[in-house]
Amino acid sequence: MAVEMSLVSVGALFFLALLLLVLIASQRNTHSQGKDKKSKCAGVKIGLLQHLYQFVRSSSKPSLPGPPSRFLIGNMMELTHDHLPIHLTDLGQRYGSVYRLKCGKTTMVVLNSCEVIREALVKKWSDFAGRPISYTGDIVSGGGRNISLGDYTEEWRAHRRLVHSALQRCCQRSLHGVIERQALHLRKVLMDYQESAVDLSEDFTVAASNVITTLAFGKEYDKTSPELQELHHCLNKIVALWGSSWISALDSFPLLRKLPNPVFACLLKEVARRDAIIKQHLNSYKAQNKINEDAITGFLLQGLDKHQSTESGELLTDVHVHMATVDLLIGGTETAAAWLSWTVAFLLHRPEVQTSVYEELCRVLEGRYPKYSDRHRLPVLSSLISEMLRLRPVAPLAVPHRAIRDSSIAGYFIPKNTVIIPNLFGAHHDPAVWPEPYSFKPERFQEGGGGSARFLMPFGGGARLCLGESVAKIELFLFTAYLLRDFQFVLPQNECSLPDLTGVASVVLKIKAYKVVACPRP
Ligand code: HEM
Repeated sequence: MAVEMSLVSVGALFFLALLLLVLIASQRNTHSQGKDKKSKCAGVKIGLLQHLYQFVRSSSKPSLPGPPSRFLIGNMMELTHDHLPIHLTDLGQRYGSVYRLKCGKTTMVVLNSCEVIREALVKKWSDFAGRPISYTGDIVSGGGRNISLGDYTEEWRAHRRLVHSALQRCCQRSLHGVIERQALHLRKVLMDYQESAVDLSEDFTVAASNVITTLAFGKEYDKTSPELQELHHCLNKIVALWGSSWISALDSFPLLRKLPNPVFACLLKEVARRDAIIKQHLNSYKAQNKINEDAITGFLLQGLDKHQSTESGELLTDVHVHMATVDLLIGGTETAAAWLSWTVAFLLHRPEVQTSVYEELCRVLEGRYPKYSDRHRLPVLSSLISEMLRLRPVAPLAVPHRAIRDSSIAGYFIPKNTVIIPNLFGAHHDPAVWPEPYSFKPERFQEGGGGSARFLMPFGGGARLCLGESVAKIELFLFTAYLLRDFQFVLPQNECSLPDLTGVASVVLKIKAYKVVACPRP
């Protein structure tokens, strides 16, 4: 093996030397020729040299492992599994922490451990900060002008910076109060159920959504509001349809775009509806007599004016404010809501954890509601939150990245345009890092428990780190603390089985519907 490797390295060196000689010779030749002919000839040579150089780079590195690829469809079938994060994690057991899947002309590289995900997303962030450019992605993202799906360009960076500052500002000014208000409203909703068996998922969605709509344009909704229901229905539909193989097939096989596709027609209709709803919100925000200065929309609109007068030359427009609102609504609603549903379900499986969090809240807070600044004094609650982020990272495959130049991961050559799938679910279930990775054990994050938050990556990392990370952390902490301080969650009496913890994986990993009883604490 060692002899083979050194032969490859000697071969690679030889090719490099040859390459250098050809390059020098081509430059000398081109000096003595006419201008037109010179540039054409040099172009061809450079193209050839680039191919040769890439060939040498790739052949000097081991080739990526992966399941056998089938004629025409490659590994497409691997992507049609019901629970993709679990399937990709299982493939990782067979092929290692880095492996490839072929889909049409696209090569995908799946990363399954914290170490390799960190190498790609954090250490080599500038190589892997791109997003795949796709036909359907372009349609959903207003021509690539949103943050989550937009490619890594100057315009995208200016857009992300602007929205990031808006979120930072509102985290400092109003976020705590906005979440407290929603947590207290949620308390009232649960009280009104009077200990009946209910599915709380919609109430969690309304609470999380109201946090975002209050931050975005100073508006909150009741669960029964038709406006809210229309917005949720439409956003959920877009996320579900876009994750379906009927739609992703259009990206891999352009010929299919010529055939009638009712699923695609439905996606187009929902995108148009989404845009009409957001536009109406932005217009009514602009038309207000007294503008709510704390709302993100106001900050963004002001930021556009400032941005347009800067010298960067990148123009941010109303479309960017529109698409940022979509980003915040999609990114910030289903994620936090799904996470709360998971947490309650896991607590039904281990009621003693619920009791220890409650006892800690009573002991430390002496009756008052918690603040986010109390988190260091509440290690049991914090360990529950970390364990839930580990076991059920609600964006289990993050959002696909794209190599924007040739690079490498774990010593494997990764050519430009390779699609990178950070399998966060796989990294969080890596047996090399987490003993009993599939067990719910918050105590692993308590002192002496052996778990380290260093290996948690629920929000991704690097240039594409979740934009709402700070908002989400405060939200998860406060909602969980308020709920567990005021209620004990128990299985309904007529229910003989505990909630199924496998989940349904799309862009967001959700739990299947279940009922629970919220009993008010004395
Ligand atoms: C439990 C809560 C949440 C989790 C686990 C989560 C996780 C993630 C992950 C894994 C990514 C992809 C990172 C990557 O591509 O490498 C992401 C992106 C993103 N998230 Fe979150 N998220 C959460 C809540 C939120 C909230 C509350 C917001 C908005 C306020 C938000 C807005 C976004 C946006 C805009 C992006 C795209 C960032 C980019 O492409 O640059 N997320 N999130």
